[in-house]
Amino acid sequence: MSANPTAPDPNRFPWQELANYATPMDIAWNFSYDIDNEKLRTLYSKAKQNQWDAEQHLDWSIEIDPSQPIVGEDRFMFHRAPFFQRMSKTQRETFVAHATCQMLSQFLHGEQGALMTAAAVTHAAPDYEAKLYSASQTFDEARHVEVYERYVRKLGVVYPISPWLKDLIDVTLSSRSFAKTMIGMNMVIEGLALAAFHNMRRQATCPLLRSLTGYVLQDESRHVAFGHLYLSQTIAQMHPDEREDLAQFAFDAIKGMIDATGGVDGSQPPKPNPGFLLVLERSGITLADFLKGMQEAGGLGIQQQLPPGQIHSMRDLMMPALVRVGAITPRTRELYAAAGIPIFEDIRVLEQMERGILTPGSQGA
Ligand SMILES: [Fe+2]
Ligand SMILES: [Fe+2]
Repeated sequence: MSANPTAPDPNRFPWQELANYATPMDIAWNFSYDIDNEKLRTLYSKAKQNQWDAEQHLDWSIEIDPSQPIVGEDRFMFHRAPFFQRMSKTQRETFVAHATCQMLSQFLHGEQGALMTAAAVTHAAPDYEAKLYSASQTFDEARHVEVYERYVRKLGVVYPISPWLKDLIDVTLSSRSFAKTMIGMNMVIEGLALAAFHNMRRQATCPLLRSLTGYVLQDESRHVAFGHLYLSQTIAQMHPDEREDLAQFAFDAIKGMIDATGGVDGSQPPKPNPGFLLVLERSGITLADFLKGMQEAGGLGIQQQLPPGQIHSMRDLMMPALVRVGAITPRTRELYAAAGIPIFEDIRVLEQMERGILTPGSQGA
């Protein structure tokens, strides 16, 4: 709550400054109601059959002690860094508790972004079956916002959205192209989310967090599959200039995200992130010590090693998804090479995730 009751709440939309707030969007009616893409019809059916309700399917009576870690320490790559190991157990636990809360806050804000992008695709996609499917995704995302808001509220702290994540969602939402919106959301952000949710579910020690993340993960696998099915078809029909424009959008999104989060190998200083600075402050760690510790870990190659069983978003999901859908062209391949961004093409993990092999009730559970 704001200290001054008359001051505007920075978390709320500033209506008072935007009396003429407008949302210009092109209108994409489709009166044929024909379904040309049977796989999309099937995906829509699956989406309807797999709806779940947070009220009925999750046990919200589970108590959480916000002062205690709700995920295993090894969820974080910092875990193997010498500076982390040099901390006291109490300080490590405080750091893990706040870092987890910060991450869950990003899940919450990211889900709000996904809610808006899915609604935008419902509006703007020209095909009837894509509108139907996106509508189902919109409702999925509403449930995701609901469950993460409820869970983060139990923890008692909501961290602000990371600037790079907000920038990425803003660019995606203001692209005025449903294909770019889908590149930004269904490929890049959901690739990131799918890996983060998968890893979170493996490491969560809180049964409620494990369970709700499992439900969200099931939906996200379908969303990434939608990106593949619909964008493949859309990109294949594009004029080469339009395809290049889309490929450039994908490159800019990936590069912007990498630059903001510490470079390809994590060796660059990340852009300032007020939420993470708060995590450090609340854990009694100075930024200078943290950066020094990260540099030391970088020198040992620790940041590039994921804990066993974890999925790497860029390597396993995002880049293979962009390649498979045709969003990386020979021209942009050169841009990735010049920027030192490897193009991973192995789609095995991506396909497993889409088939739900790694979702609850299967080998990953
Ligand atoms: Fe979601
Ligand atoms: Fe999603």
